Amino acid sequence: MPDLITLLPKAELHLHIEGTLEPEMMFSLAARNHVGLPFETVEAVRAAYEFTDLQSFLDIYYRGAAALHTSQDFEDLMWAYLVRAAGDGVCHAEMFFDPQTHTERGIGFQVFMTGFARARERAGRELGITTGLIMCFLRHLGEPAALDTLEAAAPFFDELIGVGLDSSEVGYPPSRFQEVMGRAREAGLHVVAHAGEEGPPEYVWEALDLLGAERIDHGVRSESDPALVSRLAADRIPLTMCPLSNVRLRVFDRIEDHNLKRLMDAGVKVTINSDDPAYFGGYVADNYRAVQQGLGMSDAEMSQLARNSIEASFLDAGMKAQLLGD
Ligand code: HPA
Ligand code: ZN
Repeated sequence: MPDLITLLPKAELHLHIEGTLEPEMMFSLAARNHVGLPFETVEAVRAAYEFTDLQSFLDIYYRGAAALHTSQDFEDLMWAYLVRAAGDGVCHAEMFFDPQTHTERGIGFQVFMTGFARARERAGRELGITTGLIMCFLRHLGEPAALDTLEAAAPFFDELIGVGLDSSEVGYPPSRFQEVMGRAREAGLHVVAHAGEEGPPEYVWEALDLLGAERIDHGVRSESDPALVSRLAADRIPLTMCPLSNVRLRVFDRIEDHNLKRLMDAGVKVTINSDDPAYFGGYVADNYRAVQQGLGMSDAEMSQLARNSIEASFLDAGMKAQLLGD
């Protein structure tokens, strides 16, 4: 019997497709492409997933993503995620991808966009789930590289719903990316940004006021600035939170310490997501379950969180109403 959490219709809004690469698939892709891996066994890969902070994770995540080479690889990766997500009751997924991780290795947009398009088309047909793609800029590579990436992506703008900012946060404030995000907005793309994961509340303010971010990815560190919490609540700015990620990257010591419920009670539109599920030990329903148990939340609160995810998506009002059963 599927549990309540699985049955709730939900959208996943903070999911890095490269972060869904399970060790088993890493090995099968390496064998198929005749390339080596820096690990001997699946168990050795899993054992390496002991993170101390965001950077210690990113170092391993970028190495794992190097196992992806062909359109078929990107299709298989996204299809596996979408099957898993549909099984968790996800009816709509807005997925991040990191083009620079691939273009830096000589793999062009045509390669990964072809694979993504095939997986998304198949998911619509066979799983009945809708999908969107959000292209993220790697902040540690700086704005000139982000501008080059936006230009390279121009032939594929029709296949994107938005752009985001990810990778190392502290030392790379959103204010450095105003030009590229402004251009993306002019092209009709939605703007989101990772902010306040490890970085200070000022980065969240900058994402809102300088980049025009419509959602904040993570945003947990907003809590230390009451004026910012009021702003998020008043403007209904969604936070796409990833509780298991935050524990694995030591943003919070334990799930019981997570501030999701406090921010929800303060009137912030909070959503639950999985971030990089292959690395953080759980897909989206696992995140909902961990939160419900760890923070002692009611079924009604879980249902509200699932509704929030659909409302916070970039679907049009008609699709939202349909999924919400309104
Ligand atoms: N933060 C920043 N960059 C990332 C993350 C994250 O949680 N996951 C994948 N890239
Ligand atoms: Zn993320």
